Amino acid sequence: MKDIQLFIFDLDGVITDTAEYHYLAWKELCDDKGLLFDREVNERLRGVSRIDSIKIIMEHNKKDDIPETTLVEWATEKNERYKQLIQKVTPNDLLEGITDIFNKLKEKNIKIALGSASKNAKAVIKNLGIEEIFDFIGDGYSVDRSKPAPDLFLYVAKNLNISPEKCVVIEDAVAGIEAAKSAGMLGVAIGKKEDFTKADFVYNSVKDIDLDEVSK
Ligand code: BG6
Ligand code: MG
Repeated sequence: MKDIQLFIFDLDGVITDTAEYHYLAWKELCDDKGLLFDREVNERLRGVSRIDSIKIIMEHNKKDDIPETTLVEWATEKNERYKQLIQKVTPNDLLEGITDIFNKLKEKNIKIALGSASKNAKAVIKNLGIEEIFDFIGDGYSVDRSKPAPDLFLYVAKNLNISPEKCVVIEDAVAGIEAAKSAGMLGVAIGKKEDFTKADFVYNSVKDIDLDEVSK
């Protein structure tokens, strides 16, 4: 048995499907600015910070001459659209199986933390009605270097005084699993096996996570 003491959950795509709202907000912005954007590019934005996301979109559009101030402006516009969309989030938007996982971890006295790259994370978990669940919240304001850097997960673990090898990270992003592994933590991915070569475990969806298998 591993001595697991902390589970760190990503938010977008793990606790709720706000990943879809990020897609819609970027799509609207790109349509507005005459930029190409599709679901394939969107996949590359999972777990990536807002400003790095717009840089990936520019690279996809082969535009390297847009001033940084314009990029920040456009990213802010995207965020305004995103903030509108997340107003609709309610406890019904919790992904199937997540509440069950939280309950089982509480029963086992294992701590629960949030490790999200999003600056909107607190607003989303408030709308989901799960603010009270977390022993600690790490979000887009917590560290400078975002995933795939290990900084956010290390920051969360340090604040709870738990060493990295006793931590499990649940992620739907390749950048997130890379961050977990560089932090020296167990990485559990949600998605397709072929996309997550570095993950310790991969499950199709949150409801398939086998806590006993992960902790064994
Ligand atoms: C991550 C999402 O959780 O947060 C990314 O997977 C998003 O797609 C990032 O870009 C930053 O979010 P926000 O809300 O700060 O723009
Ligand atoms: Mg995610």
